[in-house]
Amino acid sequence: MLSKKLKWQLLFEEKKQLEDLLQSSNSVVYKNVFGEILLVKSDGDYYAFKNKCPHQNKSLENCKVADGNVICPWHQYQFSCETGRGHGLHVEKYPLKFEKDSVYIGKEAWTIFG
Ligand code: FES
Repeated sequence: MLSKKLKWQLLFEEKKQLEDLLQSSNSVVYKNVFGEILLVKSDGDYYAFKNKCPHQNKSLENCKVADGNVICPWHQYQFSCETGRGHGLHVEKYPLKFEKDSVYIGKEAWTIFG
């Protein structure tokens, strides 16, 4: 039976790599096996999104992060870091998992094996 399952991929061997990337900025575009993702730091927490604004499918590179929201650099639509939602739209969000100092990123994928 076809079902969706969360697939985890190693993003960083050490959490420090993520912390270093987001040391001088609250957001950065990073390429991984899922394509371009937007890594965000907000109030000490880390988030990952697809690097595509749902308004006009433009890159979120150079977005601002304020009050728990990602603010698109093109038309300033705001999307919640917690949910990815805003303006009746939503940015695809990927869960992050911290395990034994490594960082994993998850993405739902269809599977026939359950
Ligand atoms: S493209 Fe992001 S708000 Fe318009």
